[in-house]
Amino acid sequence: MSDPEAYYRLHVFSCTNERPEGHPRGSCLQRGGLKLRNYMKVRAKELGLEKIRINAAGCLDRCELGPVVVIYPEGVWYTMKTFEDVDEILNVHVQGGGRVERLMLQPEETGK
Ligand code: FES
Repeated sequence: MSDPEAYYRLHVFSCTNERPEGHPRGSCLQRGGLKLRNYMKVRAKELGLEKIRINAAGCLDRCELGPVVVIYPEGVWYTMKTFEDVDEILNVHVQGGGRVERLMLQPEETGK
């Protein structure tokens, strides 16, 4: 039996994890991850993107590079700092199928 068709075409996991003030790794929430994730969700809806899910995620263990998102099925990671970064990820990757190279994280980058 083969796998069923994917329910979502793309699934974006956006870290909104919070750590206590002073934690050595910091957190994506302290770096603005929640407002960026909420903005991404609103913009994705406004753009009418279908079969796309923007989910808040717990810690993805790349905290120092955050706020971070990972997009499946490609498994491409981005760091994002501004609303403009979010717009570019949505327009270029999610809508257009391209890559935002200036924000993309490579596997060897951990920030640790
Ligand atoms: S707090 Fe976001 S990756 Fe760890």
